[in-house]
Amino acid sequence: MNNFHTPVLLNESTKYLVTNQSGVYFDGTLGFGGHSEAILNKINNNGILIATDVDKDSFSFSKKKFQDDPRARFYNFNFSQIDTISKIESVSYFDGVFADLGVSSFQLDNPSSGFTYRTETKLDLRMDKTRAISASDIVNSFSAEELAKIIFEYGEEKNSRKIAKSIINKRINKKIEKTTELREAIEDVTSPKYLSKTLSRVFQALRIYVNDELETLKSFLTKAVDLLKVNGRIVIISYHSLEDRIVKEHFKFETLDCICPKEYPVCKCDKERRLKILTKKPVTPAETEINLNKRARSAKLRAAERL
Ligand SMILES: C[S@@+](CC[C@H](N)C(=O)[O-])C[C@H]1O[C@@H](n2cnc3c(N)ncnc32)[C@H](O)[C@@H]1O
Repeated sequence: MNNFHTPVLLNESTKYLVTNQSGVYFDGTLGFGGHSEAILNKINNNGILIATDVDKDSFSFSKKKFQDDPRARFYNFNFSQIDTISKIESVSYFDGVFADLGVSSFQLDNPSSGFTYRTETKLDLRMDKTRAISASDIVNSFSAEELAKIIFEYGEEKNSRKIAKSIINKRINKKIEKTTELREAIEDVTSPKYLSKTLSRVFQALRIYVNDELETLKSFLTKAVDLLKVNGRIVIISYHSLEDRIVKEHFKFETLDCICPKEYPVCKCDKERRLKILTKKPVTPAETEINLNKRARSAKLRAAERL
């Protein structure tokens, strides 16, 4: 595709997503446009692609890449604003809604994006740089308990308390402002054998917290189903168990036609069954894809259809 990011589960994504070649599609995670390009390749001249990315650089890159395609429209919005975008575009319903969650390889590898712990860079982790709180604000002002909770809940890291204490000890002498300074605090209490996994987990935890990723995802899923046409499809790729659980549970909730307590003799809720799940088990990349792109290894794709 390009050197910035290799799209994951590309054929599988469009196979599930695009069922109407003249349809209107939403890509909530434009990135470097790999999936958007595949959608554009599948739709005809009457089809429309509306895509957004909260990251300014990714948005600008892709907007330029597709500037000559009249079927494509781009936004630098959070995907949870899908309802606002649909109003601006006067779109009542989408034929397909797609998201490829997380961050791109470019964001992870490029020091100026501030996501990598591999090189020294400002400790930030905001995808949207206009957000009020960065990772540095958190590690320098939150209590040990608050930090441990974030690292445990969002990083699923068992040594969260030890790491939180080490962060507090480090910041006594000097504010933690760089990725390498946070890395040192983690290194001080982590065996080299587990260091790389632990670093990933702690940085993931802070990133999820800073960007409010899980709540944003929940809000997006609800709005996306509201905005799906009958027979329209929703396709989500996630990269860690917290996100995948949210997608799986949300899809399951949308398959229920009653959420009354079991002891009610008759249904009193007005819950509507809105989705049919198309992927009983999540679709995962083949070995050949993982061999070519190691970032694909944790990907899980789930798809559902609006009833
Ligand atoms: C895995 S990359 C997507 C790559 C893309 N599918 C491609 O082929 O190039 C995820 C992208 O989603 C963006 N992103 C993450 N959360 C977002 C959100 N809540 N709203 C909008 N964009 C988001 C990130 O900035 C990143 O560019």
